[in-house]
Parts: sequence; C-alpha cells; structure tokens
Amino acid sequence: MQNKITKAIFPVAGLGTRFLPATKSIPKEIMSLVDRPLIQYAIDEARAAGIKEFIFVTSRGKSALEDYFDHAPHLEAELKKKGKDDLLEELKKTVMDSGRIAYIRQQKPLGLGHAVWCARRLIGDEPFAVILPDDIIAAEKPCLQQMVEAFEENPGNMVAAMEVPADRAHAYGILDVKEDMGSLVSVKGMVEKPKPGTQPSNLAVIGRYLLTPQILENLEAKETGAGGEIQLTDAIAHEITEGRDVFGFRFNGQRFDCGSKSGYLQATVSFALSRPELRDDLMEFLQTVVNMDQAAQ
Ligand code: G1P
Repeated sequence: MQNKITKAIFPVAGLGTRFLPATKSIPKEIMSLVDRPLIQYAIDEARAAGIKEFIFVTSRGKSALEDYFDHAPHLEAELKKKGKDDLLEELKKTVMDSGRIAYIRQQKPLGLGHAVWCARRLIGDEPFAVILPDDIIAAEKPCLQQMVEAFEENPGNMVAAMEVPADRAHAYGILDVKEDMGSLVSVKGMVEKPKPGTQPSNLAVIGRYLLTPQILENLEAKETGAGGEIQLTDAIAHEITEGRDVFGFRFNGQRFDCGSKSGYLQATVSFALSRPELRDDLMEFLQTVVNMDQAAQ
C-alpha cells in the first residue's frame, strides 16, 4: 500500500433539508460564504494537501455541482471581452483538470459510511481522504494539510478532532481516548452520536478523515448503527478492535458547522470580516446593530 494520499471523497448526496426552501433547487454545497460556494473551500483545502483526484458522491438534483467545476465558455468569453481579467482568474480556480474529477451516485440515503463505500472502486488499494464540505475550517495552514503531514509521521486512520461542549456531544462521532499526546490522540474506541451523558469524552470527530483502504472492506458488511444508518465512525472503530491504529488529530483553526444555520451565518460574517474590501463597512454595520439591540433591551 502506498502512503501518499492523492484521492479525496466528498460526500455531497445530502438533501440539505435544514436549508429548505433554499435547497429545493440548488445543492447545499453551492450555497456561498461571501462569494464562494461551500464546496470551493473544500476543494481548495484538498488541493493544498496534495489531492489530485476528486470523487464526489452525489444524488439526484446535484447536477449544478458538475456545471460549477466545468468551463463556462459564454461567461468566460464575455468576461474576456470586457477585460475582467481578475474575475477570469477566479473562474480558473473552479475548473477541474479533465479526468481528475468523478461523480458517483449514492442511490439511497443509507448514511455516510455507505456514501464512502459507493466510491470504493475509484479508491482501490490506497489511503484516501474524506472531506465533509459542511465543516468549514479557517486555518493558516489548511486542516487537511496539517493532517497529511501528521499522517506521514504516523500512518494509520486519522480523524480531525475538536473538543465540544458536553451537551453537544450527542451530535457527533466521539473519541474514546487511549493516550493524549497533544495534537495527536490515540483512540481506543469511537461512538457515533452517543446518547446524552454517555459520551466517553468531549473530543468530537470533525469532517476530515485520512483512511486506510481496509475501511472500505469494513463497510462491505453494511452494518447499520446510530440513526439506522451505515456509519463511517463504526467502520473506523472496527479497525481498533482489529488492533490497528486510529488517531484523533487536534487541528489548528476555527471550525464552522455550515450544516446549521447559525454556524453558516457565523462563517459568513467571519469570512467577510477577513476580506479587506468588506471589513470596514461590515464592522461598522455590526457595531450599529449591536448598539441598537443593546439600547432596545
Ligand atoms: C458526521 C459524522 C460524525 C461527525 C460529524 C462532523 O455527522 O457522522 O461522526 O462528528 O459529521 O461534522 P453528521 O453531521 O453528518 O450528522
């Protein structure tokens, strides 16, 4: 098995029901933070980590994603005519090299583990990354790149990890810690969405994974877990029972849960504030809003 990770799976089959009616006709992943779709952040992070092949696990109604990653000849010609070179440059980053992007349909919503399993034939016998585009991570060094560097030192299954408040643990995969080595944590168990009060720690899995191909074989069993779904967490936990290494990686950076409205809004504000051309206006507006709100109380 090679150790270099060059393939990433992006599970994007979800219906995005939390953002209805917006997601009735556009995929959730096309919703944007300022002016870039959520999926673009995930792609940029993957590219920075050395990913060369991009596998999207999609479902009905996601064709806008395919158009997004393709050339847009009319638009490009129009921008060229108008001399808008900076926008043309931005558009270039959205286009994927031919043959480097693949779309697989997840025909039934059977869970994250099943979505990853759907991509098995494109992965073959090499380690691979999984990126959940709902989890946006703002970081100086992109999160997946931090993980790839850690993986080179410690090859083994690795999940991004972050402490969450105890009353939120039930919404995540939670790690049972064997040894805490600082940024790296070795894991002796994992539970998907533990019942409140039963979590083995407050260290939660965040949507970045580096996985060994054995995981795909574990997923063959198609065992259902939390919520009646085939869980990726369970397939990773199975590795521990087989005596293989699983690590949690505490990344540097700020994570936004863009699968929730409040996380999405926080990410929007935060990313807008990091843009020099928007910062001053937005800051002034936010201060006015806060002042008015305080005065009204
Ligand atoms: C998924 C995973 C969960 C992980 C979470 C991170 O859950 O199943 O283990 O903690 O992503 O965002 P979901 O949010 O899809 O329910």
